[in-house]
Amino acid sequence: MKHNEKKLKKESYQKQINKLKKTGNKLEANHKMLQNEINGKNKEIKQKNNLLERIFSNTHILIAYLDTNFNFIQVNNTYANYNKKAIDYYIGKNYFELFPDKEYEKIFKQVAKTGKPYIVFGEKFNYYMNTEKPDCTYWDWSLHPVKDRKKAIDGVILTLLDVTERVKAQQELEEVKEQLLQSKRLSDLGLLAAAVAHELRNPLSVIQAALYNIERKKGNAPIQNQLHTIEKKIMEGDQTISNLLTYAKIKLPEFKRIDILTLLDESVDLVKLILPIENIQINKFISDDFNSFIKIDPFQIKKVFNNVLLNSFQSIKKSKGIINIHAKTVNNVMKLTIIDNGSGIKKADLSNVFNPFFTRKSRGTGLGLSICMEIINLHNGNISIDSTLLKGTTIRIELPYRK
Ligand SMILES: Nc1ncnc2c1ncn2[C@@H]1O[C@H](COP(=O)(O)OP(=O)(O)OP(=O)(O)O)[C@@H](O)[C@H]1O
Ligand SMILES: [Mg+2]
Repeated sequence: MKHNEKKLKKESYQKQINKLKKTGNKLEANHKMLQNEINGKNKEIKQKNNLLERIFSNTHILIAYLDTNFNFIQVNNTYANYNKKAIDYYIGKNYFELFPDKEYEKIFKQVAKTGKPYIVFGEKFNYYMNTEKPDCTYWDWSLHPVKDRKKAIDGVILTLLDVTERVKAQQELEEVKEQLLQSKRLSDLGLLAAAVAHELRNPLSVIQAALYNIERKKGNAPIQNQLHTIEKKIMEGDQTISNLLTYAKIKLPEFKRIDILTLLDESVDLVKLILPIENIQINKFISDDFNSFIKIDPFQIKKVFNNVLLNSFQSIKKSKGIINIHAKTVNNVMKLTIIDNGSGIKKADLSNVFNPFFTRKSRGTGLGLSICMEIINLHNGNISIDSTLLKGTTIRIELPYRK
């Protein structure tokens, strides 16, 4: 019996040993598999790190990683090279001790506090100036917050891209555009010179005849009529010359904050003086939310009002002329509408009225509305015309409010 028991025990031990061996083998295989997997992942991470490192080091963008007190944690080669320093020079140093600037410090603090990135394009900098770089440089730059897993801000990334070449090229392009515009104007002016010579000859010969009559009738009583004719002809000639000069010399606007309603009143007074017509009533409709203060070039915009109102006055041949002026503010845009009940414009003419020298008037230069268009464009605004023959004309002017 004892022998049998021993034998049974031995067999059961053997079984358990075999089982354990099997489990051991399995565990070893699993361990090897896991080890392989870990090695694979490590390799992958290393490759990704290498890739990031290569991007970080080889990009032409200057990159600096700062902590929330704006001490440098890391900078890339481009950043360090820009000021001919080694990367280690920056690490641990405070940004604003190296580049003190109260304005930028405010912006940096704002980003670190609010977590909202700050992005600027083409900003003029004299900040990173060094002797070999041009005196003034332009930069696209941004400051992005870096957040940890709990979404707390634990640093900021500063990126800077030198866009001086791009901005300079843009500036050159603008200059060329301006020159083109100028040369178009000069060729238009050549055309105009002939027209002006013709137009001015007429009033001047009338003046000459009137003077001759005054001379002849010396001592004779009513010479008032003659004098009145002289005055009117001189004003006509003056208007022609004034339009010519404005068209030739339109410059970029000099923006000033003014009350547009005052400007409009001044313009109405002037036009009434040039054309003293009794039968014209002017109504103003100002909406409650109208903001009359706007940054514009008052000299230029007054010229626009003068030309538009003068056209309306000239078009009214009825017994009762009405000019309605509407003013409102919509989505940060000032909208002015000037509506007259004058002669209106033929459909076929409507598309031409903004072209220089287009006129249906015996004494017009045809520059009035071209000047308006040019000035309003320089203000980034809009001007359009709508008209029905024999009913009247509507001019719409839109001017954006600027800061
Ligand atoms: N309110 C209006 N009513 C009727 N016709 C108009 C009106 N505004 C413009 N026009 C038409 O458009 C043409 C061009 O106007 P624009 O102001 O450019 O030149 P002009 O008035 O003819 O000449 P200038 O302004 O030099 O005296 C006018 O000749 C006229 O036929
Ligand atoms: Mg006109």
